[in-house]
Amino acid sequence: MKVLMVGSGGREHALIRSLKKSDKVTEIICAPGNGGISCDAKCFPVSANDIDSIVALAKEQGVDLVFVAPDDPLAMGLVDRLEAEGIRVFGPKANAAVIESSKVFSKNLMKKYNIPTAAYEVFDDAALALEYVKKQTKYPTVIKADGLALGKGVIIAPNIQSAEAAIYSIMEDKVFGESGSRIVIEEFLEGPEVSVLTFTDGVTIKPMVSSLDHKRALDGNRGLNTGGMGTISPNPFYDDETAQICMEKIYLPTINAMKTENRPFKGCLYFGLMLTKDGPKVIEYNARFGDPETQVVLPRLKTPLIEIINAVIDEKLSEIRIEWLDDACACVIIASGGYPEKYIKGLPVFGLNKYGQIDGATVYHAGTGLENGRFYTNGGRVLGVTACGKTLNEALERAYSGVNKIAFEKAFYRKDIGKVI
Ligand code: AMP
Ligand code: GLY
Repeated sequence: MKVLMVGSGGREHALIRSLKKSDKVTEIICAPGNGGISCDAKCFPVSANDIDSIVALAKEQGVDLVFVAPDDPLAMGLVDRLEAEGIRVFGPKANAAVIESSKVFSKNLMKKYNIPTAAYEVFDDAALALEYVKKQTKYPTVIKADGLALGKGVIIAPNIQSAEAAIYSIMEDKVFGESGSRIVIEEFLEGPEVSVLTFTDGVTIKPMVSSLDHKRALDGNRGLNTGGMGTISPNPFYDDETAQICMEKIYLPTINAMKTENRPFKGCLYFGLMLTKDGPKVIEYNARFGDPETQVVLPRLKTPLIEIINAVIDEKLSEIRIEWLDDACACVIIASGGYPEKYIKGLPVFGLNKYGQIDGATVYHAGTGLENGRFYTNGGRVLGVTACGKTLNEALERAYSGVNKIAFEKAFYRKDIGKVI
C-alpha cells in the first residue's frame, strides 16, 4: 500500500515509523511533514488545512490510503471529501470530529447520555457569563472556548477577577477568534489525569495502552499549558479496575451515543480523563491521536498498525486481536526557548546524525527543517526523544541520556517527566 500521512508533528513521525514496520506498506508520503519526517517519507509542501490541495495530491500520487492526523483538517471535512472521491481514508468524518471541535457539543452529548464529566453551563453572551461567575462561590473554575484553539482555549481561573478577565479576553477580545463565540464554564476537577487513545470502527472500541502527558511548560507542573512537554506509558494510576469502569461508563457509552446521534465515529478517539474521588470523568475528547501520547503508545504496539487501520476502515475491528509490549516508554520534548509563547525559528540543531537520529533512543521530529544536510528548529516543540525499557526508570534514563546528546540555542526541556504527576 502507498500511504499519504497528513500532518507535520512528532505524532505524524511516530505514526509513519510505526506504519513502516509492516511489509504491506510499500511507500509513505507526507504533507507537509518536516525535516525529520523527510528522512522516512517523501514530503510535499502542502498544508494539512488546504483541503483541495490534499485531495489533489492524494489523486495525483495514486495513494491507496490517506491518514488524517491533525484536528483542523478533520473538523474541516477532509475525510468526507476524500471518501467522496473514492479514496480510502483513516479518520472520523466532520460530523463525528465535532466531538473535539466543539466543547459545547461534547458536553451536551455527555449530559444527554449520562457520561461522567465536570458539571457545566454554556454561554454565548458575555454579560450572562459575567453574571454567572459573580454568583459562583467555588473557585478555581474552568473557562473553555467552544472551538479549537491550538490546545490553549482552557483557562483555569483561581478567583472571580481572573474568571472575568478570561471571559472578556475570549468573548470580547476574541483571543481565540470565532472559537470563543461560545464558552463553557465548568467545575474544576481534581485527581490524576490519564490519556487513553482508542481504536474504534463506530461499533467496536479497543483501547490502546494508557499514557500520561505533562502539559505544563516547566518543572513541578508550573508555567503555561502547552501541547505537551513529555509523556510516559503506561500511566501508573490507570489500573485494570479503572480500565473496566471506563469501558462500561465512558468508552462504550460514548461510541454508542455517537452512533445513536447518526455520527458514527471511525478512527482514533482520545479520552482525556481525570480520576476523581468520585470515579473517572471525561475532561475532553480528541478526534485523533494525541501528541505526544502517540510517541509513547505506538512503540509498544506489537500488532502491525496498518492491519488495525484497515480493520477500522472496513468495520471489522471486532475480528482482530491487538497485542502490546509490556515495556514502559517515555518521551521528553525538547522545545524552543519561549514556547508556548514567542520563540525564534531557524536555529541549527546539533547532535543528530544525517537521518535526524541518535544512538540509544528514537527522535521523533515535531518542528524541524532540513537544508543542505543540516537540521534546524522550525517550531515550538522541536524534538521528542523517546525510549522504551523494562521499567519506567530504564525508559526515562535512556530518553534523558538521548536528550543530553542534542543541543540548540535556547533549547529547554522538563527534567521531571515521569517523576512529577
Ligand atoms: P483541554 O484542552 O480540555 O485538554 O484542557 C487542558 C487542560 O486543562 C487539561 O489537560 C486539564 O489539565 C485542565 N482542565 C481542563 N478541564 C478541567 C477541569 N474541569 N478541571 C480541572 N482541570 C481541567
Ligand atoms: N497531548 C494532548 C493532545 O494531543 O491534545
